Amino acid sequence: MCGIIGYTGKKLNAKNTVIAGLKNLEYRGYDSSGIAVNEDGNINLYKAHGKISNLENSLNGRDVLSSTAIAHTRWATHGEPNETNAHPHKCGSITLVHNGIIENYVELKNELLKNGVTFKSETDTEVACAYINYIYITEKNKIKCLAKACSIFRGSYAFAIIFDDEKDTIYATRKDSPLIVGLSDEGNFAASDVSAILDFTNKYILLEHGEFAKITKDDVKIFDGSENILEKEVKTATWSATEYKKNGYDHFMLKEINEQPDVIEKIFSRYLENPNYNEIDFSKFDAIHIVACGSAMHAGMVGKYLFQNYANIPVTVDIASEYRYSTQSITTSTLVIIISQSGETADSLAALRLAKDKGATTLGIVNAVGSTIAREADICIYTYAGPEIAVATTKGYTSQVAILSTLVINAMKQNSMLSNDLLNEIKNDFNNISSILKDIIKNKDIYVNAAKKIYEKNDLFFIGRGIDYAVCMEGSLKLKEISYMHSEAYAAGELKHGTISLIENGTPVIAVATNDDLYEKTISNIKETKARGAYSIFITTSNFDSSSFEDFSDISVILPKTTEFCQAIVVSCFLQLLAYEVAKLRNCDIDKPKNLAKSVTVE
Ligand code: AGP
Repeated sequence: MCGIIGYTGKKLNAKNTVIAGLKNLEYRGYDSSGIAVNEDGNINLYKAHGKISNLENSLNGRDVLSSTAIAHTRWATHGEPNETNAHPHKCGSITLVHNGIIENYVELKNELLKNGVTFKSETDTEVACAYINYIYITEKNKIKCLAKACSIFRGSYAFAIIFDDEKDTIYATRKDSPLIVGLSDEGNFAASDVSAILDFTNKYILLEHGEFAKITKDDVKIFDGSENILEKEVKTATWSATEYKKNGYDHFMLKEINEQPDVIEKIFSRYLENPNYNEIDFSKFDAIHIVACGSAMHAGMVGKYLFQNYANIPVTVDIASEYRYSTQSITTSTLVIIISQSGETADSLAALRLAKDKGATTLGIVNAVGSTIAREADICIYTYAGPEIAVATTKGYTSQVAILSTLVINAMKQNSMLSNDLLNEIKNDFNNISSILKDIIKNKDIYVNAAKKIYEKNDLFFIGRGIDYAVCMEGSLKLKEISYMHSEAYAAGELKHGTISLIENGTPVIAVATNDDLYEKTISNIKETKARGAYSIFITTSNFDSSSFEDFSDISVILPKTTEFCQAIVVSCFLQLLAYEVAKLRNCDIDKPKNLAKSVTVE
């Protein structure tokens, strides 16, 4: 996902300020970057393909003295990653950076071409820039010019814009893509998220759709499209800049894996201190839909298993980008749970809005405080996992599972399905989860040795049943997205219905079996793969008799047994570490895997 930062200040340090801010946005994933600076009376653009260090080199140490600058990291949507397509784009008297997709850019481009406008890039952004310039020729009121252009644009956008005739002012507006306005004594900002400005200020304003910011070095005004000034709350970020640093870890992903014991313990202790924490009256609903993308969807699969097997509540889980094709099932008696770490995922936001249009009650399980999904959902439960910088989610996912676990426990109480014995077991797990996870992390040899056995393979399979299948789905995604090793997660009972044909001599199969009732069947499935030459890594729990493991397992990993309200978190922590070590052995860019973005704000 693209990153935006603009700054206008009282000193001539705008270039260094926005470059520093841009580096705090690297985690969003990008393939090129650029900067526009108000320099010696001109708006000069500098762009580079690849890392921000390439952009800095393109400035070849020039001490660009500027009071105002806008900068951008681009995650390519239209047009390949290269310098020409990199932002900022300048058309006539307009210079801008953009996050999002202008869906009607082709028709707008054709209209502009007929009016003699020429283009250098393949991007929708350059079209948006040229269209704003086209309107500005006749509408010289900048807010009204932007409002008119935005009324014509379809799709998503966050813009930071500089007009040639007002070079020390930044205008900003957004629809669906995130954008905030940062405030400080030294100057003011427009940025994609708080992480970009925390080195300079923790004060910010959330810009809403249809609002236009006029930002100067000592003033910020927010207007509506008719140029009426709006009163906006100034918020204070609760996260410190250090949370956006690695703090001694080799990678953000490893730091965030290590934060899980504390994050999960905090979620469960909040529940133990207030058992009505996140109380929702499930009896009001005749259906629960969990809707999300990627790992968040995998967390939803764990939630579905727990809701159905412990609270006797039927749940469906949908991939957010597919949900819109099953609208007939959404009614005013439906609870739609949208799970999103970033709270800005376009597919999940679209599903949320669809559910609201259908009259459903919407619940967001979100990490990013103040994000769009958090604000638009009828109810929002924050995971409070803290900033997650690595593109591959770890604490974001396990904190979602933890919240879902507490929701299911509340549902069980409402349905009088929670026995005292089970509640006591759960409380015991909640009190021990931190030390359980710390021990898994500490036993490095186990996951390092397992990683050494598989990292040179090209294909790998995960198999499990029930909740273990949901965990396998997440384990497979983690491995794929950071190590680029192809893997598939399969319901253990399903592998023999076709895909087992891919098992060859030495093909790694990671089998997860923690559920008492499904254990024997999963062992049978492992043996089916072993019979065809598979190299099996068996992940199970301490309650099973390990004497026979060698019959079907090349590596056995025995994890602590917990109730199923914690088991997925325990196994997932191990699989995260396994994926991390495989990626290290394969020399991958663990925090910023190729082609990926931390939050996908385009559909
Ligand atoms: C997880 O490691 C991936 N980065 C991705 O699948 C992610 O979970 C998905 O894009 C959803 O993101 P969200 O939770 O911010 O909505």
